[in-house]
Amino acid sequence: MNPEEEVSRPGRRAQAAGNTGETSNAPRVRPASGHGLGHRPLPPLSLYVHVPWCVRKCPYCDFNSHEAQDSVPEEAYLKALQADLEQALPLIWGRQVISIFIGGGTPSLLSAQAIDSMLASFRACLNLLPDAEITLEANPGTAEAGRFRDYAASGVNRLSLGVQSFNDEALRALGRIHDAKQARAAIDMALSAVDRVNLDLMYALPGQTLEACRLDLTTAMSFQTGHLSLYHLTLEPNTVFAKYPPPLPDDDLAATMHELILETTAAAGWEQYEVSAYARSVADRSLHNQNYWTFGDYLGIGPGAHGKLSFHDRILRQARHRMPESWMTRSLQRDGSHIAETRTLMPQELPFEFMLNTLRLKNGVEAGLFPAHTGLPITVILPTLKRLEDKGLLSVQAGRLRTTELGWKYLNDVVSEFLD
Ligand SMILES: C[S@@+](CC[C@H](N)C(=O)[O-])C[C@H]1O[C@@H](n2cnc3c(N)ncnc32)[C@H](O)[C@@H]1O
Ligand code: SF4
Repeated sequence: MNPEEEVSRPGRRAQAAGNTGETSNAPRVRPASGHGLGHRPLPPLSLYVHVPWCVRKCPYCDFNSHEAQDSVPEEAYLKALQADLEQALPLIWGRQVISIFIGGGTPSLLSAQAIDSMLASFRACLNLLPDAEITLEANPGTAEAGRFRDYAASGVNRLSLGVQSFNDEALRALGRIHDAKQARAAIDMALSAVDRVNLDLMYALPGQTLEACRLDLTTAMSFQTGHLSLYHLTLEPNTVFAKYPPPLPDDDLAATMHELILETTAAAGWEQYEVSAYARSVADRSLHNQNYWTFGDYLGIGPGAHGKLSFHDRILRQARHRMPESWMTRSLQRDGSHIAETRTLMPQELPFEFMLNTLRLKNGVEAGLFPAHTGLPITVILPTLKRLEDKGLLSVQAGRLRTTELGWKYLNDVVSEFLD
């Protein structure tokens, strides 16, 4: 998923606004000597590709996803994607790409040939690291063993499956196009196609009991995929669920479910390395998402995709037009009109932007990453760091910035302090 969507998961709306630059609350940090990465190496670069179609729109989903009417216009999409990429190349000349995430929507709606030609064009145009992590998001309702194997043969080496639950009743309430049996079959297919598989699961589902939540989690863990993304189902504005809310577990039960998730994963030796991400080992973590969370760079192509790109004198945020048709037409015009927004981040926005991402990591980040990825001296945040340390919310030890246990509980508040 694109990071703007990623940070907007469980109760992180305030942070999401910051990440998309919508916050009106301008921070008062004044860098001592201008801003820019100067001669420092630029942050690692990833590529995000948005595929906007789904078989059916789920009632809880506020992603940029649209029901594919009869079929996906693959050819037109690939042409527009190529045009989008080619127009973006001058922004990333010579830079190595460390990971690709093909997200959606439902990228598994695309044929094996489409993914093959997409990846072939990326290899031809980009300086792609030979062992780059290449993830593709799939919906179990669109899974096919042969297609997964073909994706892998084209270079996809990680599959992320939107399982959500193994309970048929819950899946029906969520309006999913698959049942539990199909979810299990899709996981088996994914595991036999690639070495690295992530399962997305949601909890606090309509009518869900604690026992049902436990069963979903233990079932997911029993597949030993090595990575789980566990999201609290949130009622997002402008969704069917926001208009017609289903009966959801109350806050106490949802909190107990969260506790259960923490205890069960920890007891099995899994690490919660980020707000919603759990890995069996360090090698199982998502490289692509870790690049977002360490304030790395990413080029986002496809409808509605967001990007963040650093230069030696500035950091740019971009957003593509959201509607697939409009993005396709505009991208093919090759006049830059497919880009809805381009904005240079103000130096005073950077501390908040940096912390918004990096403090999502349970172990935080090396303090040296702040100057390296923002171009600002660490001195601009020292007073805030000190204030948060004094309150027992943040620790700055052995060159690492991270929240304390208390700070982790109040992450939104901690991050907001960097707006001041
Ligand atoms: C782009 S979707 C994943 C792939 C595919 N579209 C699917 O749903 O199977 C990313 C994930 O975000 C999570 N998600 C979507 N809407 C959510 C919401 N309202 N609350 C919590 N998690 C949500 C789901 O777990 C979903 O699998
Ligand atoms: S399949 Fe995934 S992206 Fe599509 S509507 Fe459902 S949750 Fe959203």
